Amino acid sequence: MTHLVLVGMMGAGKTTVGKQVAARLGWPLLDSDHLIEAATGRTVREIFRDEGEAAFRALETTALIEALRRTEPAVIAAAGGVVLRDENREALRTADARVVWLKAQPDVLVERATRGSHRPLLDDDPEGTLRRMFHEREPLYEEVADAIVSVDHRTIADVVDAVLR
Ligand code: S3P
Repeated sequence: MTHLVLVGMMGAGKTTVGKQVAARLGWPLLDSDHLIEAATGRTVREIFRDEGEAAFRALETTALIEALRRTEPAVIAAAGGVVLRDENREALRTADARVVWLKAQPDVLVERATRGSHRPLLDDDPEGTLRRMFHEREPLYEEVADAIVSVDHRTIADVVDAVLR
């Protein structure tokens, strides 16, 4: 097994859990949003604002595929939208990687996902948007997941243990 990939909605805890899982395994953490920001020298918000979502999604595919191609094992925190493109789901299904879906109910997501500044899609009506996205994306996460870890009402340590199990 080369990589461990965390997928799930904005606010599910991919970055927080990913950091701890990476520390436990002694592997680097690759966060797709951070890879895009490092490659372009711009923030996720700037890319959405100046070039639009389609341009961001193209950068996201490149970041995901490059991360999956690395030979050193890594924990990959894949941003919430990676499952939207067919080619990304195909890459996740066929890569030498264990894909774990951090699954959170919309109520839990609403509280957490509105904290970051890198989520322009939540600027208007975050609650309605997250609920709609959750229903649209649920089957897509399910399609790529080798394992599902529920994060609702669980501590981070508990979730980390479940991911590593
Ligand atoms: C998005 C998730 C964000 C970021 C962008 C779009 C999405 O990443 O890539 O705001 O469409 O779900 P996180 O999942 O790390 O919040």
